[in-house]
Amino acid sequence: MSLHGKHIIVTAGPTIEPIDPVRFISNHSSGKMGYALAEELARRGANVSLISGKTSLECPTGCVRTDVVTAEDMYREVMKRFPEADGAVMCAAVADYTPVHTSNSKIKKSDDEISIRLRKTKDIAAEAGKIKDGRLLVGFALETDNETDNARNKLQRKNLDFIVLNSLRDAGAGFATDTNKITIMYNAPGKVFHYPLDSKKIIAKHIADHIENWFCEQRPQPAPPAATITRKS
Ligand code: PMT
Repeated sequence: MSLHGKHIIVTAGPTIEPIDPVRFISNHSSGKMGYALAEELARRGANVSLISGKTSLECPTGCVRTDVVTAEDMYREVMKRFPEADGAVMCAAVADYTPVHTSNSKIKKSDDEISIRLRKTKDIAAEAGKIKDGRLLVGFALETDNETDNARNKLQRKNLDFIVLNSLRDAGAGFATDTNKITIMYNAPGKVFHYPLDSKKIIAKHIADHIENWFCEQRPQPAPPAATITRKS
């Protein structure tokens, strides 16, 4: 129960950005990685707020789940809780763009081509990074190329404590599978940890070890014993 008393937010799953009542922009996240992590953190005693996009998964034992749909919903729920939390782990696959306009009625088929204007969503991890003030902030990076450089860039730009890199170039890693292959990177030269392909449950244990270790290192160290002054008479 090493994380006893720690309140940790975990985001998981995809966001859904509606175009009209029948169509949307989303991604392939199943929520498996985030849910495995939420479960492992709760098993180690943390109070876990799981903020989840649409998945078919059961809420893990010991977690409190809030369901969200869009990136904006997820942003609001994270920012509401983060100031009271000890940390957040951003495992969700959040849409980077959302339609400027959502039609109230089904868009009819007419022209051969149509355009949908998109605007950037808020970067939840980066916004949390601006106000983290000593809290733990962990991000994920899902990459397809230039993995290390892109992940290091996200680590620094979002003010994360560490980042979990997974690449779609690795068989069995990333979306929807029961397995993953990760590299954990800190913002310190050489502090990089590679893990082999394993089940998401085992991968969650590796990530939880880093989280536990981070909290251990933040704990105030006991003051050294006061020096004894001996006077020579
Ligand atoms: O759910 P599964 O099917 O098990 O798949 C797991 C996973 C592949 C989704 C997971 O391991 C993972 O990589 N999650 C992050 C996916 C992602 O969106 O990565 P990114 O590189 O685009 O984003 C970088 C970080 O910023 C992430 O922590 C993301 O949550 C965060 N972000 C991104 C955009 C945004 N608007 N706000 C954010 O907070």
